[in-house]
Amino acid sequence: MPIGSSETLFPALQLIPGGVNSRRAFRSVTTRRPGDAPSRGELIDFVGTWGPAIHGHNHPRIKAAIAAALEQGTSFGTPNPYEVEMAELIVKFFPSIQKVRMCNSGTEATMSAIRLARGFTRRDKIIKFAGCYHGHSDSLLIKAGSGALTHGNPDSAGVPASFAQETVVLPYNDRAALDAAFAANPGQIACVIIEAYCGNVGFIMPDAGYLAYLREITAKHGTVLIFDEVMTGFRIAKGGVQERERIVPDLTCLGKIIGGGLPVGAFGGRADIMDHLAPLGPVYQAGTLSGNPLAMAAGIASLRLLEELNPYAQLDRLGRQLRDTVLAACKAKGLPVQVPQCGSMFSIFFTATPVRDYATALTGDAKLFGRFFHACLAQGVYLAPSAYEAGFISTAHDGAALDRACTVLNAAIKEL
Ligand SMILES: Cc1ncc(COP(=O)(O)O)c(C=O)c1O
Repeated sequence: MPIGSSETLFPALQLIPGGVNSRRAFRSVTTRRPGDAPSRGELIDFVGTWGPAIHGHNHPRIKAAIAAALEQGTSFGTPNPYEVEMAELIVKFFPSIQKVRMCNSGTEATMSAIRLARGFTRRDKIIKFAGCYHGHSDSLLIKAGSGALTHGNPDSAGVPASFAQETVVLPYNDRAALDAAFAANPGQIACVIIEAYCGNVGFIMPDAGYLAYLREITAKHGTVLIFDEVMTGFRIAKGGVQERERIVPDLTCLGKIIGGGLPVGAFGGRADIMDHLAPLGPVYQAGTLSGNPLAMAAGIASLRLLEELNPYAQLDRLGRQLRDTVLAACKAKGLPVQVPQCGSMFSIFFTATPVRDYATALTGDAKLFGRFFHACLAQGVYLAPSAYEAGFISTAHDGAALDRACTVLNAAIKEL
C-alpha cells in the first residue's frame, strides 16, 4: 500500500479517528484526499515528518545505525551504552544541561519537566504562551498551537477546569503581560515554559531582548525557566535557540531530531533540579521504552552527521532563498505576506501584519494558504497542510531541489 494513498486512507478512516494517529489530516486546507497527490514519484518535502527528518528520509547512515543496534535487540529494560552516548552528546552541545533524562516523546519531556519544576519549587502554577504547543498533556492543551489550533480546538475538551486554572496563558512577546502575571501570582509560579522560537503557530521569533527579559524575571521570582526545544534543538543550531540567543534556561526539552525518526524525547538542565527526580528525589517519572537502543542509535547517527556536516550556514542560505522567492513573487502580485525564517525553519503568512504572536498569526488568510498549499502539492512541493505550522529544510535538500521548489512556489503564487 503506497504511503498516504487512497488504498491506505479508506481502511484508516474506518478504523482510526479521522484516519490519522496525529495531526496529519488535510482537513484545514481542503476536503481533497491525500490520495489525490500527484503521482510524480518525487515530492519535495518541507514537512520532514514534522521536524525529525533533518537529514531527509531513510538516510543510509541512520538506517545502518538502527540495523547495527537491532542486532543486539530492541529493548533490554536495563541501562544501555547508547543512552550514555546520547547523554554525552546532549550535554556537549547544550551547556545548560548538566544532567538529562530520556523519554519517548516531546509530550513526555514537557510534562515531566513541568512536574519536576513543580516538585522542585513546591509551587503549582505554570505560565505558557498562546499558540505555543508543548505536546498533548492536560495542563498544556490550553490556547495550544499546532494541530490543536489547525483543527479549531486550541482549548481541548477533556481537560478538567481544575487543571486549566493552574495554567496562566500569556501573549508571546509581551513583557507587560509577564510583569502583570508575576505581580498577580507572587511566589506561586513554578515555571515558565516557552518555545524560544515558536514553531507551532507558524514560525515566530521573539522580539529583541524578550528572551533575556524572560530569563531575568524568572530568576528574580525563583521560577524555573523551561525552553521547549523539541522542535528547535539541533535544528536552529547544534545547541538550539539557547546557543544562538546566548540565554541559559534552567531546563530544556528535546525530541524529534535526537531520535533520527524514531520515538524519542529528553529533558535536562541544572543538576540541582534534575536530582529531584526519582530514584534520587521525590519527583516520579519513568518509561518502559525510555532510552530505547534503536531510537538512541538512530539519534546518535543523526547528531554525528550534524557534527560532521555542520550544515547550519547552508540551511540558512536555502531558507533565505525560499523566503526571498516568496516575498518577491507576492510583491509582484501585490499580495501581502510575511515570511519569518531562521536557518531551516520558515512560515508563510498571507497577511500585511507583522506576525509576532498568536493574535497576529491569526490575521493570516488561511483559506488563501489552503489554495496555495494545493497549488504547490500539485506541482510536487509538500508544505505543512496548515497555515499554522513551520516548514523545515533538511540536509537532503540540495541547491537543485531548492531551485525547483522556488520555481513551484513562484508559479503557485502567480496562480493565486
Ligand atoms: C515544541 C514542541 N514541543 C513538544 C512537542 C510534542 O512532541 P511529541 O509530538 O513528540 O509528543 C512538539 C511536537 O510537535 C513540539 O513541536
